[in-house]
Amino acid sequence: MSLDRDFIVGLPKAELHLHLEGTLEPELKLELARRNGVDIGQTAIEEVRATYDFHDLTSFLAVYYPAMQVLVTEQDFHDLAMAYLRRAAADGIVHAEMFFDPQAHTDRGVAFSTVIDGLWSAVQEAPSLGVDASLIMCFLRDLSAESAMETLEASLPYRDRIVGVGLDSDERDNPPEKFSEVFSRAREAGYRLTMHCDIDQADSIGHIGTVLHRIGVERIDHGTNIVEDPALVAEARERGIGFTCCPLSNSFVTETMKGREIVDLLRDGVKVSLASDDPAYFGGYLVDNVVALAEGMDLTREDVARLARNSLEISWLDADRRAQYLDRLDRYVAG
Ligand code: ADE
Ligand code: ZN
Repeated sequence: MSLDRDFIVGLPKAELHLHLEGTLEPELKLELARRNGVDIGQTAIEEVRATYDFHDLTSFLAVYYPAMQVLVTEQDFHDLAMAYLRRAAADGIVHAEMFFDPQAHTDRGVAFSTVIDGLWSAVQEAPSLGVDASLIMCFLRDLSAESAMETLEASLPYRDRIVGVGLDSDERDNPPEKFSEVFSRAREAGYRLTMHCDIDQADSIGHIGTVLHRIGVERIDHGTNIVEDPALVAEARERGIGFTCCPLSNSFVTETMKGREIVDLLRDGVKVSLASDDPAYFGGYLVDNVVALAEGMDLTREDVARLARNSLEISWLDADRRAQYLDRLDRYVAG
């Protein structure tokens, strides 16, 4: 079998860095705007796409958050997640850990229960598509630590529906230590921990050190600036820290897809996986990201199989399920 798109689609793999709000395609955005009577300032697909003009994380987020006002009812959140899960199934994703940003909705007056009930009903339906799904709740780092703590408290009645917590939104002036208390409380509550360390931020490497040493995350979302510190790379490799890298997203918010960094880490034995971040905004889903990296960096069959293997190994699946998928992956690669 050669390294073509079909081979990549067929690899059993996990998607671990996917913002559900970032899967809101222009078609669904307009449909929900109509359904809910929300004026978003655009009525045609091309008009929506014309607003997708960003060159860094801040300018992306300035387009991203206002669009969420079309998400109002439990059905809207359900429809959003189901649309993504259908695409995930078509991409050969067997397990998806999906981020959601409750504060982006509760701050507009949508109840936490509306968000979680809508998303949860989609998670329950996912196995009918051949996908295992779970939810990771992200805190918005540009809001206060108190707001994050309140959100954590609001989530506790739904503890069994949420596998872990993450941290996203604008990293500038919002370092990880701002949320150290929230994350230690989340750990006590049994949540798994991940955090964004976005690409080329002011003091990226300092933030990566903090999330590894002070916060104690199991994974880092993005995080490829770690290559600037070989001692931290060695530590991440030894501790089996997972990295969820997003080439297409990188090429929107920085100059390049950071292919060299991703591939060096991968071949150095660091547990790197690929993911799609906000696919409705960054031009592609998971397989598109793998194909872009494979073409841009001349990846081998072993490289892409390793990326798929890492995604399963660093996932928060239970051990039995993970072993089943790894076995399926081995048989696929051997066959
Ligand atoms: N929210 C959605 N996508 C994000 C990203 N790549 N970084 C930070 N916050 C985000
Ligand atoms: Zn992200």
